[in-house]
Amino acid sequence: MEMPPLILVSNRGPVGFVDDGRGGTTMVRSGGGLVTALSGLVNVAPAVWISAAIEDGDARVQEESDGEYRVPGLGVDLRGRFVVMGHEVYERYYNVVANPMLWFIQHYLWDLSNVPDIGEEEYAAWDDGYIEANRLFADAVVGALADHPGSVVMLHDYHLYTAPEIIRERRPDAFLHFFVHIPWPQPDYWRVLPPRIRERIIEGLLANDIVAFHTQRYARNFLLSCEDLLGIEVDYSAMCVNYRGRRVRVRNYPISIDADGFTELAASDAVAAEEATFLRRRRRHLVVRVDRTDLSKNILRGFTAFDIFLDRHPEFHEEITFFAMLQPSRQDVPEYVEYVERITQLVSNINTKHGNTDWMPIDLRFESNLPLAVTAYKHFDVMLVNSIFDGMNLVAKEAPLVNERDGVLILSENVGAYEELGAFSLGVNPFDVDAQADALHHALTMPRDERQGRATAIKDVVMENDIAKWLATQVADIDQARGEAMLPPVTPDPD
Ligand code: G6P
Repeated sequence: MEMPPLILVSNRGPVGFVDDGRGGTTMVRSGGGLVTALSGLVNVAPAVWISAAIEDGDARVQEESDGEYRVPGLGVDLRGRFVVMGHEVYERYYNVVANPMLWFIQHYLWDLSNVPDIGEEEYAAWDDGYIEANRLFADAVVGALADHPGSVVMLHDYHLYTAPEIIRERRPDAFLHFFVHIPWPQPDYWRVLPPRIRERIIEGLLANDIVAFHTQRYARNFLLSCEDLLGIEVDYSAMCVNYRGRRVRVRNYPISIDADGFTELAASDAVAAEEATFLRRRRRHLVVRVDRTDLSKNILRGFTAFDIFLDRHPEFHEEITFFAMLQPSRQDVPEYVEYVERITQLVSNINTKHGNTDWMPIDLRFESNLPLAVTAYKHFDVMLVNSIFDGMNLVAKEAPLVNERDGVLILSENVGAYEELGAFSLGVNPFDVDAQADALHHALTMPRDERQGRATAIKDVVMENDIAKWLATQVADIDQARGEAMLPPVTPDPD
């Protein structure tokens, strides 16, 4: 099957350019599962990647390019376009609407009796921030479509919900594919937003040909939302919505990792360099977590569970370390700043309560260090992934894949990865700190053959459903949908 050229669109692009202080710029690779996964896509077809100018050198790189800059180092022909917007627009779009407003709704994080207030400031952030930023993204896509006729447009994530409608108006012929990488909550939770905002979000998504999610549950919640919030008839068995004379397919494709590439990374010199020190300091048992400092990750309850576990099992004192590598995230959003403070405080309390001069129960690192994270993945006895809600959670796939100790995965029932890995992990309710404390003990005392059986089963699933499969299934569906789009349109619905 011949894949047409791609126009990828996401807020965060594959690279950024930071001022080097000498009048030039230095390229930095972006992190995060989304960027890693999409980097695989560019291997199947020539691509242009449109993203927001985030780093201080991005706008200059765009200005000095002939419309598109080259993205070196990925081993493929990838070009990029930065969408440059004023500081105020970006601030409102990213730091007020996308994070926290939409992110918190989609992860059920708002404490609704207190927040959010939707007032003048939030409406201004929507109209002059989010809608404006999406208009600028849509302009860039329309420009790229003119330069690369016949491309398939693939938009990604909650920053870009309203762009497809604008693109559709200007290019009714375009094939638009949209992937939502985070949970889609049940319809009532969308009622936190006033009708004109929530309706625009759903209508924006319905301007696409395919709307994709990681799990069946999210795809179904989206169909329910179309029905409940817009009064549109949906077809649950075909997973389709007929909207304004077009058929919108709603699909689920569980994202994954590059299993071979990740295995190679685990065997690399960079990881070996971290391993020696790491292993020297290791106690008998090791619990690990690796996350962004995001409220959805449920970091506080994880530590509280460890505290309860230490209360209940003094026999583990001095024999165990909880290694937590937390990458600071979204530190322009007050809720995220406060979260880091609360984590620091809680860890300090637990370490003071249980630790001594020779033993610090929790080894907390606020850093992003991939070789060190992979070292911890290789050597954990227990991996804790206890998110409140989480689109997929790739750590739950990466870590068990390269683990060498038949370590046990404790997995929240509310993460996307639970659909594939729940049967082989120790499932927990993320709010139940008591059950999480018990799960830690269960995992640490599990007989070796049971651990082995579970660990092997997880490795098999991750290797079988790797990123290549995620991509291939989508490419096949796009191919089929484009073929059908050549046929006469479905009967338009009354509105
Ligand atoms: C999640 C989102 C991505 C986002 C990433 C990092 O994985 O689904 O869209 O890029 O978090 O967050 P950030 O705000 O730093 O881009």
